[in-house]
Amino acid sequence: MLKNVRTGSSTLAGFILAEQRHFPTATGDLSLILEQIAFAAKIISWEVNKAGIANIVGATHSSNVHGETQQKLDVFANTKMITALDHLGLLCGMASEEAEGIIPIPDKYPKGKYIIVFDPLDGSSNIDVNVNIGTIFAMFKKPSGTVGEAVPQDFLQCGRSLVAAGYIVYGSSTMLVYTTGRGVNGFTLDPSVGEFILSHPDMTIPETGHIYSVNEANFSKWDSITQAYVEELKNNTETPYIARYIGSLVADFHRNLLKGGVFLYPADTKNPKGKLRLMYEAIPLAYICEQAGGRAIDGKRDILDIIPDAIHQRTPLIIGSKRDVERYLQITEDNRAEKKKGSKKT
Ligand code: AHG
Ligand code: MN
Ligand code: MN
Repeated sequence: MLKNVRTGSSTLAGFILAEQRHFPTATGDLSLILEQIAFAAKIISWEVNKAGIANIVGATHSSNVHGETQQKLDVFANTKMITALDHLGLLCGMASEEAEGIIPIPDKYPKGKYIIVFDPLDGSSNIDVNVNIGTIFAMFKKPSGTVGEAVPQDFLQCGRSLVAAGYIVYGSSTMLVYTTGRGVNGFTLDPSVGEFILSHPDMTIPETGHIYSVNEANFSKWDSITQAYVEELKNNTETPYIARYIGSLVADFHRNLLKGGVFLYPADTKNPKGKLRLMYEAIPLAYICEQAGGRAIDGKRDILDIIPDAIHQRTPLIIGSKRDVERYLQITEDNRAEKKKGSKKT
C-alpha cells in the first residue's frame, strides 16, 4: 500500500494528500482537519517541552467534570485543540475530556459534517515528573439526515462508524500516529523544520507480545478472571513477560503497538465501570489497534461494538496484541463453563 512512499521523505501533509486520492468522493475536509490537529499538536508539543522551565507546571485551582484537578497544560491543550478546529466550517460539534457538555461551534462559523472527540492531554499526572503524555482524538460523521449544530445524541456512535482516529505522544520525540481505516502510519516531528515526517509506515502490532501493562497495585480490587489472567502472564514460562506501566495510556499503548503486548485497565472495586473513558480514550485507540491487527475489548465485547450512552462514559479496557487479548476472553469463557458445570452438579 505504501510502496511508493519513502520513509523520511514524506511530510504528514503530503501523505494526507496522497491518502485522500484513495477516496474518490473525498472533499478534502477530513485532510484539512487532520492537518489542523497536527498544527495544534506542534503548539502543545512546544509547550510540553518547556514545561520544566516555564511557569506552567502544577495544578490550576479548577476541577474538570470528573472532579479531578486540572493541570495547566490540560487547559492549554484543550484550548489549542478547540481554536485549531472551531473556525474551519468543517465540524458540527466537539467533545473533550475537559468540557462537561459538547463544545459548540461558535455561531459566527459555518457548520460542517464532522464530529470530533478528544482527550487533549492524556496522562497529565505525569507532566510534573517529565514523563510521556499525549493527545488522543477520533472523528465521526454527523448521522445522516441531521443538519447544523450537533446535539449530544449525534456523538453517541459506536466505534465502527469512525472515519479517523489518532494520537500524539510527547516523548523523547513527538510522534503523531493516525488511521483513516487504511492502515496505521506514524510521523515523527522534526523540530528543525517543524514538520511531521513519515517515520513508521504501515504499523502493525505483533500477534502476541511479551509485555503486560497494568496498574498492579489494584490487584486485590480486581475480579478473579483479571487476577487469573495477570497471574498467568507473570508465570508464563514459554513466553516470559515483562511488566511496563507508565500511567499514560497513550504512551503505554504506543510502546505496546510497536513492541507487542497487552495493556489493561480493568474494572475494579473502586472503578466498577472501569476508569478510562470510552469515547475519547478507548474507542480511538481500539480503532487504531484493530487497524494495526490487534484487538481491544471491555472484557466481554469488542470496544468498537459498544454504543455509548454518554460522552463521558467509562469502560474497562484490555487492548493490544490479538492473541494476548483473546486469552482474556478464553479465561472468561473457561470460567463461565466451569461455573455452569458446578451449578449442574449441585
Ligand atoms: P488523563 O490524564 O487523561 O485523566 O488520563 C489518565 C489515565 C490514563 O492515561 C492512564 O492509563 C490512567 O489514567 C492511569 O491511571 P492509574 O494512575 O490509576 O494507574
Ligand atoms: Mn486520558
Ligand atoms: Mn486528559
